[in-house]
Amino acid sequence: MNKKNLNIEFLEYKNIDDEIPKSTANLLNMADNNLKNAYAPYSNFRVSSALQLENKEIVLGTNQENAAYPSGICAERVAIFAAKSQYPNQTIERLVITTEQSRENPFSPCGACRQVISEYEHQQKSPIEITLKAGNSKIWTFKSIGDLLPFSFDAEALNF
Ligand code: THU
Repeated sequence: MNKKNLNIEFLEYKNIDDEIPKSTANLLNMADNNLKNAYAPYSNFRVSSALQLENKEIVLGTNQENAAYPSGICAERVAIFAAKSQYPNQTIERLVITTEQSRENPFSPCGACRQVISEYEHQQKSPIEITLKAGNSKIWTFKSIGDLLPFSFDAEALNF
């Protein structure tokens, strides 16, 4: 028997002026400016996402809820599916998720969104950097979705 240990590194910025790379700060500002387009009448929890593709195109998404609750969809999945519908062969370089609600540390994406992001990271064979911010919270950057969803299930399992 071996005891194993998993260590996950991430960057923590005090705020958007704390040495955060320009490309990420730009996405965070774009996501925050688009929070107004969230449709969240049931949860009142507005979420916004912005992603940047290899061709430098930026795609936005906000959470879209529904009276039939499970029919709604998270902001980051809206952004990712829109991007992949328009630019199926473009690599996703980075993605940010912001919320209107503020707290000390950012909120973390749901399991279904992690799985969806992970699918495209495996497909493109290059990491998708994920940055999280909740209002005026500290900002966390993970270098890959693999750091938020270790030991993920992927299509390799289906290639039998
Ligand atoms: N939500 C997101 O859009 N992204 C997340 O990462 C977590 C949750 C949405 C789903 C729902 O509209 C609302 O937040 C409350 O769960």
